[in-house]
Amino acid sequence: MIHARITGTGGYLPEKILTNADLERMVETTDEWIRERTGIEKRHVAADEQSTVDLAEQAARRAMEAAGIEGKDLDLIIVATTTPDLVFPSTACLLQNRIGANGCAAFDVQAVCTGFVYALGVADKFIRAGGTKRALVIGAETLSRIVDWTDRSTCVLFGDGAGAVVLEASEEAGILSTHLHADGRYESLLTVPGGVSQNSALCREGRAFIQMKGNEVFKVAVNTLGRIVDETLEAAGLEKSDIDWLVPHQANTRIIAATAKKLNLPMERVVVTVAHHGNTSAASVPLALDVAVRDGRIQRGDMLLLEAFGGGFTWGSALVRF
Ligand code: ACO
Repeated sequence: MIHARITGTGGYLPEKILTNADLERMVETTDEWIRERTGIEKRHVAADEQSTVDLAEQAARRAMEAAGIEGKDLDLIIVATTTPDLVFPSTACLLQNRIGANGCAAFDVQAVCTGFVYALGVADKFIRAGGTKRALVIGAETLSRIVDWTDRSTCVLFGDGAGAVVLEASEEAGILSTHLHADGRYESLLTVPGGVSQNSALCREGRAFIQMKGNEVFKVAVNTLGRIVDETLEAAGLEKSDIDWLVPHQANTRIIAATAKKLNLPMERVVVTVAHHGNTSAASVPLALDVAVRDGRIQRGDMLLLEAFGGGFTWGSALVRF
């Protein structure tokens, strides 16, 4: 049986840092409020000349180096992003050209904060179906471009970044299952209400910003992520104690802690990076994964539960034997 195995990870955060102290000077907020309510201490912001593909390229190169492969070895590139460089070509196509992978399949996936988990699920299915031997899966965002920097309820939360994994076909187990869901009824709780085809004036005027009813999103997120933990374990016939590491979407430490509690996992077994970069949407799970792989916490053979929740609403999980 063919499995998709993670053979390399990479991450990239832009140089410019915006601390909570910086935000105290921009909107009516405090370092204390941001830390207590979210766990965030700072976020990275792309330079004016940097776009999503620039961030994606850095993360992709690091993941390919870790896997010992080059662009020409790839059969598939999927970029998960809500902040693509252009309407088209896709960010995946722009990236493909940069890394010399011309000719392979390349496309974007848009599932907001769940984007990487969605992209991983799609790439896993390509590999399992046969034909695709090596895939590059990336989550990359320049959310700073759709944040209203005068809205304290959202601007303290988000940041820019990119994370990537290389997946290779293997006889050894890798991705064991992925579980993807969406419920479009929640549009009004979390949205950027302007785009190409609807409310396009907002885009043209540079006023298409994230709007979120945070408190309501929070409640749905906690309940939904609790349910997906059960669904994932049940599908695999695993016990909570079989999970070595939780690699969650990094939106809020309180949401992460609630999911860890559901798994009876001590926080030492949860990869938490939100303090360093805030909510980077689709980049958040692969960024966290890369940190814990590189610092040696996650070892070959460990059982990982990846999960995310975001706009749509979308949510999903992946069970991975690393
Ligand atoms: N500084 C100070 N006070 C603030 C700030 C701020 N930055 N932002 C809001 N407040 C105030 C509010 O005005 C409110 O004041 P009031 O009680 O006088 O009305 C008070 O703080 C409490 O506001 P809540 O929104 O109830 O605060 P909450 O504890 O829910 O925390 C947060 C807000 C951090 C946004 C939380 O609700 C959250 O994390 N929600 C989920 C976010 C998420 O996971 N989103 C999904 C992924 S994102 C994506 O897909 C793009």
